[in-house]
Amino acid sequence: MRMGRLARFVGLTWTIALALPTIAAAQDRHRVISPDGRNEVTVEITDGGLFYSVARDGRLVMLPSRLGFEFQGAAPLRDNLRIVDTGRQMVDETWTQVWGEVAQVRDHHNELRLEVAESGQATRHVAVVFRVFDDGIGFRYELPAQPNLGAFEIIEELTEFHLADAARAWWIPANRWNRYEFLYSASPVSMLDTVHTPVTFVANDGLHIVIHEANLVEYAAMNVANAGDRRLHATLAPWNDGVKVRGTTPFVTPWRTIQLADRAADLAPSVLGLNLNPPNVLEDTDWIEPQKYIGIWWGMHINQMTWSSGPKHGATTENTKRYMDFAAANGFGGVLVEGWNVGWDGNWIVNGDLFSFIESYPDFDMRAVADYGRERGVRLIGHNETSMGVENYEAQLEDAFSLYASLGMNAVKTGYVGDVTRDGHAHHGQYMVRHWRNVIETGARHGIMINAHEPIKDTGERRTYPNMMTREGARGQEYNAWSGEGGNPPEHETILFFTRMLAGPMDFTPGVFDIMIESANGTPRAPEESRLRTTLAKQLALYVVLYSPLQMAADLPENYEGQPAFEFIRDVPVDWEYTQVLDGKIGDFVVVARQERGGDDWYVGAITDEEARTMDISLSFLTPGQRYVAEVYADGPGAHWLHTPYAMAISEGIVDFRSQLTLVLAPGGGQAIRIRPVQ
Ligand code: NOJ
Ligand code: CA
Repeated sequence: MRMGRLARFVGLTWTIALALPTIAAAQDRHRVISPDGRNEVTVEITDGGLFYSVARDGRLVMLPSRLGFEFQGAAPLRDNLRIVDTGRQMVDETWTQVWGEVAQVRDHHNELRLEVAESGQATRHVAVVFRVFDDGIGFRYELPAQPNLGAFEIIEELTEFHLADAARAWWIPANRWNRYEFLYSASPVSMLDTVHTPVTFVANDGLHIVIHEANLVEYAAMNVANAGDRRLHATLAPWNDGVKVRGTTPFVTPWRTIQLADRAADLAPSVLGLNLNPPNVLEDTDWIEPQKYIGIWWGMHINQMTWSSGPKHGATTENTKRYMDFAAANGFGGVLVEGWNVGWDGNWIVNGDLFSFIESYPDFDMRAVADYGRERGVRLIGHNETSMGVENYEAQLEDAFSLYASLGMNAVKTGYVGDVTRDGHAHHGQYMVRHWRNVIETGARHGIMINAHEPIKDTGERRTYPNMMTREGARGQEYNAWSGEGGNPPEHETILFFTRMLAGPMDFTPGVFDIMIESANGTPRAPEESRLRTTLAKQLALYVVLYSPLQMAADLPENYEGQPAFEFIRDVPVDWEYTQVLDGKIGDFVVVARQERGGDDWYVGAITDEEARTMDISLSFLTPGQRYVAEVYADGPGAHWLHTPYAMAISEGIVDFRSQLTLVLAPGGGQAIRIRPVQ
């Protein structure tokens, strides 16, 4: 269906181009500006090459940067180019998200479309479309159907991002064994190697620049590589034979995006990528239910239970019923169960071909637990770890999702531990991007929401398929259980917020109360061992800061019993009307306020790195004339992530829109606040 629409679109615009070639050919430089007039893109031909540059407030952000392609078995589409036609349009429309960080999204942009052709005899054509928004720009290539470019193989996309400034980058490495699961580093752009997107730059004047992509379909994921002199170039994840993208014209690429913000707090919530994705294609979305969930999960990560069969097997019928009772008692929608299916015995990380996604272990009665949950308003969330045995998974996908749907399940967590497929295709290459879309679409057909781990990065597909709920795609809480180098440092989530989270929701799995992981073997873990490096209050604040429409309460149910702080997890919503970042600095701290979707409650989450911080926030976002109760979960006296992480002060007070609150955050600490109207 997608290609059909595309073919019509490209066909139509190309007809216009062919009608007007001589008029437009005279011009070789074109400009387009954002609705607020601040962002300006210039596209021009220089020495036969096609270049774009970006300025903000008249100051260059991207110097002239090349556009084009290199093909296998054909000359690059790069040289002897001329602009043969241009088209413009303005769009201003507001659309509603099925769920999200904000209910309403405004898509307001100016578009410039350039049709470019090679000079000479056997000319080939390409169109480049720029959309310029107040919060950044997006551009993509369109290869129309044409006699001299039919089936093709892209060896490299020649897109460049030539930064004007020696900006500081916050990045994780690409092409490494562990996909996206790295700690972030900060360094000048000149020090970068090849990095994943989103990658966030801070220029000398404080301008924040984020390079990413949107609507990654039928293509390979883009990394950016350092070519020297502050020049980055796109580099695509390969097929097993080194080709990056296989396609046939007519064809469109994903959008390349450059988000711009004057300060960190203006980066989020990021909607640039959502605006560059096609609208929702699902007629019925009533079955899509953002929710909190618990899981037979952390127990395996801390070695208290096993995925595999045996005496410590976590996914037993009895244990699952216990979790379901807990979920029902606390208003959680789902119970994730990992290790329920045959295939976990032996080395599951390399045995992906042995997983069944249908057959349970004998001590797990799937129908019985699904029924037990349904009677209590709780659904079983299935787990499909593939270990990158993708062919094995695809062969069972349809039957597995039909089975789950027949049992009343509406969510599945997938997993792709491993770096390449059995046949050697890259984790983020076109092969996997196709698989990824297949799982989302199969889920949509069967009424299954998807939560993916080791995913393809988020490029905004939740707009088109709102059953694509959340994903990992970064270093999550699980690293605090076993990473071996002590866990995630206190600054980690303050970086995630301004990097990874700009792509979309993350299944970070917050809410571990047993900070020192005493439940593993009865004694608190030593500081140098894997454990959390946050306070308890920060674990609560993460529910507000790190957005996910499926949000886990990650700890063992017994660790929540009798804990007053658990009330916050029970209360906090997973779907928001409105989000406002009150303040923040990448790597240092974040303060976010969010209004419940369809409700009057507000929630505030504040987190800090290893530094203690005191800050005043204004509650001017509240409705004037309305009085509210603020329920505050703060770091208590003497709290410190290292030795006193549990110290917490819970208090209540009356506030209104004129109130100022002073937040006192401990080292590695945070604060979570529920603000509800006085009835
Ligand atoms: C890694 C995932 O991130 C984690 O959540 C899961 O429990 C394991 N793989 C096993 O599938
Ligand atoms: Ca993982």
